Amino acid sequence: MNIPLAITGDRPTGPLHLGHYVGSLLNRVQLQHTHQLTVLIADFQALTDNMGNPQKVRANIVELMKDYLAVGLDPSKVRFVLQSAVPELFSLTCYLQNLVSVGQLERNPTVRSELTARGFERGIPAGFLCYPVSQAADIIGLGGGMVPVGDDQLPMMELCNDLVRKLNTMGANLPLANTLLSSTPRLIGVDGKGKMSKSAGNAIALGCSALELEQAIKMAYTDPQHLKVSDPGRVEGNVVFEYLSAFDPNTAEVEELKAHYQRGGLGDMALKRRLLGVMEATLSPIRERRVQVSDSEALDILAKGTYEARAGAQQVLEHVLSCIGVAQLPPPPLSGVVTVRDEYGGCFPEDNLSPPDVQPLDRGGCGN
Ligand code: TRP
Repeated sequence: MNIPLAITGDRPTGPLHLGHYVGSLLNRVQLQHTHQLTVLIADFQALTDNMGNPQKVRANIVELMKDYLAVGLDPSKVRFVLQSAVPELFSLTCYLQNLVSVGQLERNPTVRSELTARGFERGIPAGFLCYPVSQAADIIGLGGGMVPVGDDQLPMMELCNDLVRKLNTMGANLPLANTLLSSTPRLIGVDGKGKMSKSAGNAIALGCSALELEQAIKMAYTDPQHLKVSDPGRVEGNVVFEYLSAFDPNTAEVEELKAHYQRGGLGDMALKRRLLGVMEATLSPIRERRVQVSDSEALDILAKGTYEARAGAQQVLEHVLSCIGVAQLPPPPLSGVVTVRDEYGGCFPEDNLSPPDVQPLDRGGCGN
């Protein structure tokens, strides 16, 4: 029963791509056999710089779920959680914010480069600056353990463990999170200009069609000096060779092809045809599984994991608040009822405040 815990997450800002596949998804598929893995869809975090585009974030939640299931994450093993639907994480975030300084948040190198990339020099959303605290709350509130992430997440992990140590001086006795860095180097984008990313427009999505795949490979950057088939070509930075190295199971043949290309006499077209075959073999099973998952199936799985997670997060929150020394009210009188006004006009039927007129005040509800 003592399965170690692991937690990781993604922002739902676009479909997952080949970079995610080699960089993290394959690891997760392995990890689900050895750990109780939680995969968090960090929609609140995505909204910290997307408040003007909530429909993008909302729509990508189900796309992410389909990607996860299509690559082989098994819902009977993995707990999928929607961040915004676990309000305990935000209570925790608010208290944790009092344990970091604004200066510390401003020095976070990942946040700094994101701020520059988004042109937020002026008018930084406060929530954006604080999202690393919210991420620490995710990890603490959902149980912590092993956290497989890319190296850009190292400053977040440092902050998280800083907060865990501070809470532990208050008697919380929480485990430090264990960062597991992906050993796979970043996958280069099809344009050869940098790592694959949706925002750079150089990504191949996991759910792309055969035609989209073919077009992407046709455009893939090779060696601009390699004009004639007989010319010697460069392998370094050549996207076709980068992808063959990452995906072609026949590594010996790939090494021979590299040598041949460097000598001259091997054309880009022939290489790209091989690459297309290799990539189709990787992506077609994913694509097939992906279309078999309906929206409602994906969302039901997410809802189930989220409600389970909420119950656990509630316990962590209560424990942390009592260690901090936050005032606690006595439990509601057993016989009495508390009248709750329907201030929201009944907009939140899933909320424990419904039915709106008469309802015992229940701080322990987890919505399921
Ligand atoms: N910041 C992470 C990313 O952009 C997503 C994330 C949110 C996360 N909460 C997390 C990752 C908790 C690990 C653990 O990829």
